[in-house]
Amino acid sequence: MTRLDPNHAIFPGSFDPPTLGHLDLIERALERFELVTLAVGAHPTKSGLLDPDEREQLLRTMTAELASSERLEFMQLSGLLVDGCRDSNAGTVLRGLRNGTDFEYESQMAATNRSMEPGVDTLYLGASPGHAHLSSTLVRQIFAMGGDITELVPETVASFLASRR
Ligand code: PNS
Repeated sequence: MTRLDPNHAIFPGSFDPPTLGHLDLIERALERFELVTLAVGAHPTKSGLLDPDEREQLLRTMTAELASSERLEFMQLSGLLVDGCRDSNAGTVLRGLRNGTDFEYESQMAATNRSMEPGVDTLYLGASPGHAHLSSTLVRQIFAMGGDITELVPETVASFLASRR
């Protein structure tokens, strides 16, 4: 049995749309892992704004200029996250934590994933100062009501959403 690589982190999320909080976590992940895979998934109870191809393309565009972008990979999750880990050989799941509510949800998800695939462990990065309030859910709400999202998402994401108005 091949051991999943702990230095390969998979960062899964809905990324609908990607925010400045996601970008910050991606940059920090690249400082700590040899390879980082951004995995576009679907949250079972969240209503979507962008389709998976659009979310992946936005992730590709907003990370293209990062210093270590050659160590980034991209995938779409069609099923379980642990299957995405096995397919990509990633041994670490990386998630961001903003508050205690995140922790409740994340700890349950980490334990469930580890029970399905013991070769996977989950590590968390706390939100950077000034980013703890950011969420894709709030960006979708503000966008739907015609508000300004330019302080919440990367410039490339803001331009793409503006083109959809
Ligand atoms: O950004 P989100 O919405 O918090 O991301 C949630 C996501 C996509 C990471 C989560 O729903 C997920 O892992 N989905 C894949 C299906 C799966 O493995 N579900 C069981 C997790 S315990």
